[in-house]
Amino acid sequence: MPAVPNGVRGAVITGWGTALPEKVLTNVDLESMMETSDEWIRDRTGIVQRHVGGTTAGLSTESGRQAIEMSGCDPADIDALILATTTPDRCVPATASTVQELLGLSCGANDLNAACSGWVYALVNAHGLIAMGANKVLVIGTDTLDRITDYTDRNTGILFGNGSGAALIEAVDGPGQLLSWDLDSVGAAESALFAEIGGVLEMEGKEVFRRAVRLMADSATKAMAAAGVDAEDITLVVPHQANIRIISASLDRLGIPLEKASIVLDRTGNTSAASVPLALAEALDENRVADGELILFVGFGAGMSAASAVVRWSPDAAESIA
Ligand code: COA
Repeated sequence: MPAVPNGVRGAVITGWGTALPEKVLTNVDLESMMETSDEWIRDRTGIVQRHVGGTTAGLSTESGRQAIEMSGCDPADIDALILATTTPDRCVPATASTVQELLGLSCGANDLNAACSGWVYALVNAHGLIAMGANKVLVIGTDTLDRITDYTDRNTGILFGNGSGAALIEAVDGPGQLLSWDLDSVGAAESALFAEIGGVLEMEGKEVFRRAVRLMADSATKAMAAAGVDAEDITLVVPHQANIRIISASLDRLGIPLEKASIVLDRTGNTSAASVPLALAEALDENRVADGELILFVGFGAGMSAASAVVRWSPDAAESIA
């Protein structure tokens, strides 16, 4: 649960982007594919629809391109690309390699798999590269979960969808936005949610729910303590979008009102590594945070993994270097 040490080279987010495949699968569509109902799914999860189709490389290229364009940086100046995904297009090579080529980058590129916590893991890893001298890092979270979801299984088929979100971070002189971070993994609980290679997602829903609430609250508490901030100091929470009841219960534990959370799951379902950057992008587009205000990222997922970060928002890259 480290605070970012004094004197470490920091970074700010200077651009962001999103991508969702065109095809929408509504709860009503699912009624003809499995024994379920629109009403049950809305009540028990908060999800109304999800997007399906596309490829991890294609969606990543779209969100990544938007983030680069918004930042105004030259793609040739990007030092690294990290793609958080549980659903690479192929086993080998990393899908990040394909995205690198499609975006015209000439930097190191790797995939990172920490399931639904992946984008927050990637953001923290990217800050590590910045501390080691990188100037610009593209951090993408993308999943195409329709490829590993059984849409006849009502236990899992109602939850998941496809999407992508990206942010470009750039080094600054002096401290950057990231104040603290927490990365967790409870390997002993991996059987609660997994997919074999070539298989589909298998899940003990109640067990995942129970652990998720605890993991999110614990991870966020550690990150806030390391940053030296309290729940009331947080302006915006960007949680992993799995189930509105999980978000609500974990925020209850943290003493943070649900209204402070950015919620997109009603329109996207659970998009795994894409869910946090999708929710971040929407909140930033809606100007929900002002200069100097605090954002709490909190993710959890298979593993079971969890990841949190506290960020002090600064709206532009005026101080960014290189
Ligand atoms: N449609 C209609 N009925 C359903 C249903 C569905 N899709 N799924 C379950 N039911 C029924 C059950 O059979 C049960 O009926 P019964 O009371 O007659 O036995 C009832 O609804 C309640 O089932 P339960 O399993 O207790 O539902 P739940 O409230 O725990 O919700 C999940 C199920 C999967 C939505 C919930 O457990 C969950 O969100 N878990 C976490 C999953 C998650 O976040 N995974 C990703 C992590 S990154």
